[in-house]
Amino acid sequence: MIEFKDVSKTFNAKEGQVHAVEDVNLNIPDGKIYGIVGYSGAGKSTLIRMLNGLEFPTTGSVTINGTEISGLSGKALRNQRLKIGMIFQHFNLLWSRTVIENIEFPLEIAKVPKKQRVEKAQHLAELVGLAGRENAYPSELSGGQKQRVGIARALANDPEILLSDEATSALDPQTTDEVLDLLLSINKQLNLTVVVITHEMHVIRKICDQVAVLDAGKIVEQGPVLDVFKRPQQTITKRFVNQETGSSNLDDTTVVVSELLTKYSNGVIVKLTFHGDQAKLPIVSEMLRQFPDVDLSIIEGSIHQTQEGALGSLYIQLIAEQQDNINGALEYLKTMRVEVEVIKRG
Ligand SMILES: Nc1ncnc2c1ncn2[C@@H]1O[C@H](COP(=O)(O)OP(=O)(O)OP(=O)(O)O)[C@@H](O)[C@H]1O
Ligand SMILES: [Mg+2]
Repeated sequence: MIEFKDVSKTFNAKEGQVHAVEDVNLNIPDGKIYGIVGYSGAGKSTLIRMLNGLEFPTTGSVTINGTEISGLSGKALRNQRLKIGMIFQHFNLLWSRTVIENIEFPLEIAKVPKKQRVEKAQHLAELVGLAGRENAYPSELSGGQKQRVGIARALANDPEILLSDEATSALDPQTTDEVLDLLLSINKQLNLTVVVITHEMHVIRKICDQVAVLDAGKIVEQGPVLDVFKRPQQTITKRFVNQETGSSNLDDTTVVVSELLTKYSNGVIVKLTFHGDQAKLPIVSEMLRQFPDVDLSIIEGSIHQTQEGALGSLYIQLIAEQQDNINGALEYLKTMRVEVEVIKRG
């Protein structure tokens, strides 16, 4: 278990003090994939650098399985760091070494004998899907392959925790998904705790169990991924969630919404969010049967997979002469445990 307790980190920069992380409280359970999402400068890297003692908190404590990281130095800190692997946006590979030699590197530092090193590195190359590429140099690899080397190297000393700092941000969407699938399978196979920091909600949605939203150094929202996607509370969280589940082009939706409202001034625009088995039930057609005076236009809809099942969103417009009918229909949806958010009333 990783625990951040009342953690703040202040840098003394030329321009004055920078409060990079402020009053952060976080519990990250073992064996889970925990996501931390935030815009550039939110303090994400500073936060996870405190996990391997590359930064120390100005106030508060960071503990891993009861060991306080800021209390460690010298050999104890070096040993603790061996228990944490890290992967980076720009891979940080050694360019003059082959794939297998890159993977061996942390084992050399840990003074593992040559024969064991080679065996271990070979096994890891296979685990990450690089069998046959062991003797290639990084310059001969694709971005996805380079990150696979980064992942294998991070796993070399059998860490308890894997930290990922924007590990897929330099990759195209397809390669991103392949690397995310690899992280997910490693998490399951090795029961490894993974802390992922990213500015992409796609990464959170695809592999994380829980998420925290970091804004200007503070955690403004946290919880299970599905809950946060279904009921984002803060404006910044809604913006992040919309990045992934919302319209591929929100401007188009806005245009459609205002056109619909001009045409039907008594209409109401609603966003419905449903998950898992709800997505398979004819909830909307049942609503129309129960409220026959309500008309419905579909604006747009989408469905996405999360670690806890499917998550769908549907933007609709409800039109009726009597507001009561619309209110009744919305109440009906709520009793079916569909999240209902009124975007605009005509
Ligand atoms: N060593 C440092 N000295 C001074 N200021 C720093 C230092 N490291 C980080 N900061 C500042 O702390 C804030 C948070 O930086 P951090 O790198 O943690 O953000 P981030 O969320 O990782 O951003 P990005 O997504 O761009 O990587 C920024 O304002 C940054 O300029
Ligand atoms: Mg960063």
